[in-house]
Amino acid sequence: MKHPFPSYQGKTALITGASGGIGEALACELARRGAHLILTARSRSKLEMLAARLGRDYGVNVHTFDFDLSLHQSARKLFTAVQSRQLDVDLLINNAGFGYAGKFHDAPLEKNESMIVLNAETPVMLCHLFLPLMAKKRSGGILNIASTASFQPLPYLALYGASKAFVLSFSEALWGEYQRLGIRVLCFCPGNTRTQFHEAAGVNPRLVFFAACAESAAKAALDVFSKSLKPVSVHGWANKIMAQGYRILPRAWITAAARSIYQQPAAVKTVEEKAH
Ligand SMILES: NC(=O)c1ccc[n+]([C@@H]2O[C@H](COP(=O)([O-])OP(=O)(O)OC[C@H]3O[C@@H](n4cnc5c(N)ncnc54)[C@H](OP(=O)(O)O)[C@@H]3O)[C@@H](O)[C@H]2O)c1
Repeated sequence: MKHPFPSYQGKTALITGASGGIGEALACELARRGAHLILTARSRSKLEMLAARLGRDYGVNVHTFDFDLSLHQSARKLFTAVQSRQLDVDLLINNAGFGYAGKFHDAPLEKNESMIVLNAETPVMLCHLFLPLMAKKRSGGILNIASTASFQPLPYLALYGASKAFVLSFSEALWGEYQRLGIRVLCFCPGNTRTQFHEAAGVNPRLVFFAACAESAAKAALDVFSKSLKPVSVHGWANKIMAQGYRILPRAWITAAARSIYQQPAAVKTVEEKAH
């Protein structure tokens, strides 16, 4: 079977959460591979600086849109803004996401709502809005960034794990549906990666073991996307083994194992610490 998305050269990729971490690394790597970019996140100045640098260094076109994608209507607004600049999206990368560590009911309800919108609702909305255009051309791609947390219930990161399990299941189903239409769908699952993620989630840095760098996660995601046809890829051999284990072992065991890590008093910041 011919690969539907063998190269990034001359393609246009929209990346959410492109102002830092894995999203920024994806933007840099895509620009290096000759793709034009549409970058979005909340931090306008970071996006503009990145756009200027990538445009200058690689001669690609880079557009920026600052949106808070944890708000219900933002995905629609982003779609409309992209359309009104007459930009054609070949590759949609749903990367923006955050976690919140701690006892489930200690998180403010608004925080939980924002997480559901950013991690799950926004990717669904953006897929729903952009896929008809790709289906019409019978070409395009969706790269959804999930996590190794997709495979394992995570006590004290319960909603984050559930949101990523949603992304995994949703992406695998889209892979099954859209392959015949010439659209490449991949769910990429990083393990621990050195970005702002853990600090923002309130996870003790001591628990961030075997962390990869964002650049290697980005390169691996783009390589798997363009060189294989598989629906899911886990970053790094140790994470791959763990993810396979999570699929085989009893759910109660793997849940208890995660609980034993995150229930330690020093594992996560308290609500008061997070407020500062
Ligand atoms: N780091 C890890 O260990 C790890 C492991 C597995 C999976 N992941 C997943 O990888 C993805 C990227 O995470 P990361 O590690 O790169 O985290 P990060 O360094 O915290 O970056 C998150 C990105 O998302 C953007 N973002 C956050 N809230 C947003 C909002 N409300 N609206 C729009 N954009 C928002 C941030 O930009 P602004 O602040 O400018 O909005 C930033 O560009 C996430 O989906 C995460 O769940 C990360």
